[in-house]
Amino acid sequence: MAYPREFMDELLARSDIVSVVSRYVSLSRRGSGNLGLCPFHNEKTPSFHVSSDKQFFHCFGCGAGGDVISFVMKIENLDFPDAVAKLAEWAGMEIPQSDYGAGERNLRRRAEEACRDAARFFHEKLREDKGADARGYLLGRGLSPATITRFGLGYSPNAWTGLLDALTAKGYTKAELLEAGLIITNEKGRVYDRFRDRAMFPIINVRGTVIGFGGRIMGNGEPKYLNSPESSVFNKRKNLYALNIAKSSRADYMILAEGYMDVIALHQAGFDSAVASLGTALTDEQAHLISKYKSRVVIAYDSDKAGRSATERAIDILKKAGLDVRVIVMTGAKDPDEFIKKFGREKYAKLIENALSSAEYRLAAARQELDLSDDKQRVAYIKSAVGQLARMQSTIEREIYAGRVAQETNVTRDAILQEAERERKRLIREKKRETERKILDPVSSIMPRERSERYTNPHSAIAEEALLTVCMSDTKLCSGVSERISGSMFSSPLLGRAFDIVCARTREGAETDMSVFSENFSESENAHLAAVLARNAEKSADAADDYIDIIQGENIKSEGKLSDEAILAAAEYYRKKKGLNNG
Ligand code: CTP
Ligand code: MN
Repeated sequence: MAYPREFMDELLARSDIVSVVSRYVSLSRRGSGNLGLCPFHNEKTPSFHVSSDKQFFHCFGCGAGGDVISFVMKIENLDFPDAVAKLAEWAGMEIPQSDYGAGERNLRRRAEEACRDAARFFHEKLREDKGADARGYLLGRGLSPATITRFGLGYSPNAWTGLLDALTAKGYTKAELLEAGLIITNEKGRVYDRFRDRAMFPIINVRGTVIGFGGRIMGNGEPKYLNSPESSVFNKRKNLYALNIAKSSRADYMILAEGYMDVIALHQAGFDSAVASLGTALTDEQAHLISKYKSRVVIAYDSDKAGRSATERAIDILKKAGLDVRVIVMTGAKDPDEFIKKFGREKYAKLIENALSSAEYRLAAARQELDLSDDKQRVAYIKSAVGQLARMQSTIEREIYAGRVAQETNVTRDAILQEAERERKRLIREKKRETERKILDPVSSIMPRERSERYTNPHSAIAEEALLTVCMSDTKLCSGVSERISGSMFSSPLLGRAFDIVCARTREGAETDMSVFSENFSESENAHLAAVLARNAEKSADAADDYIDIIQGENIKSEGKLSDEAILAAAEYYRKKKGLNNG
């Protein structure tokens, strides 16, 4: 993914993070930085911090963070090359055509082309004689020929190398088809088609590119759906089925269904804002993607137990993305596809109209399976209802729903509100205590979120964080420090690597900011480094010697050894220092 260094340097120099972030978030100056409402989670008091000196963003609330490129990747749901392309466009720069990252980009572009050609191939096969069963299957499930065309549905022939032969004849290489997830290799190194004798559902991203497929078995058997594997082309977490169509719907909400067939049935019935996740549970990225197009989302998951628990989880994820969440409660059918077939589109439109707010839904869920004429169960319901009421943000909402619970249970509204208020205060106290505990326990609050990056020596890590941060702000200090200590002495390999990169850049005479990390670290590592810079912003360069002493001391304690190189460097340093003092 490497671009020429000069290109990246110029792009970053022209892409000031404060102005890029300001395209999306309104920032106000605060001390040495800028502050605004975090676009990655729902908040009322700003905790989203953008530093112009060190060119990073960090949210003290949700932990999101990184440099300008990771900001664009996250907010626009793009991968690295596409985020670079976007920034280049804003900066009025051309992306260099030939460079040594071109191989990878080429492979991805070819794999995307192969997916498009595969979609055409499958669609043609559906129209041929051998596709008769598949045609029968899709029509039998109530899809019209127009719907089949609209969604580009197809058929993968019952052969080992049907697609492989067709695409090889078009000039695609095995590597390209493997990257596209269209073929698989067995232990003997033989390759063959991944999808055989299945009804094919192409998955198309917002830009209209075919990125993968879901293939449904046309009868009973396992797996029911076979999906394309993750690759540079297909990212399950960041895309939604049918979003390419739903994004231009005139509805002011999106419908989130569980399956491909549900989405297609909904669109055919005129609900053209339906989308679904891609064979995995809903992700934060997908919620964020929905929020880019609509502010309201209606959950239309299956009515079975699995669907209900998926709904519970989806509510939290969607709310976190700032969406107004409604939930459809459906009886008499297992999913939207079946409901529309049985009761028709008008009835479904009513369900959407009557969709419950998430609070109502949770109250209804608490009531389900309870017999309110039984005193014990009534008390149980009131208890869980009070818990729900206490979590509602607005007083008005609490009053209204308390009124409903009162009616249902024959208890006065005031009594219920009083209980809810007490519970709400308890929750607030609990949360406060939790935050205080975190503040008083600095170690837990600085720990990286990824388990594999956890600090093994927090005492040293605190000094390492501070040393890294002050070295980034002061190149002169950094060159002195880098003669005495190297990242290999750090207890945290992550901080050590970051420190070495900063020192190397400084030695080349370059200023450093957050962008030096972006290509060398993963998304979560970048977020952690941004957090490090944010919380150490006020650390003083005067204490650099102390930080070094702590790191070296801890290193000796834990390893019982310093590298020869480090000992020589330290000896040299102290010799010089002594010489200077004497002279
Ligand atoms: N899914 C999957 N792999 C499976 C089963 C399901 O990826 N083996 C995903 C698919 O995206 C599917 C969704 O989970 O669309 C919902 O599964 P399910 O309800 O079983 O399928 P439906 O879409 O309802 O399909 P159908 O109506 O054909 O049963
Ligand atoms: Mn289903």
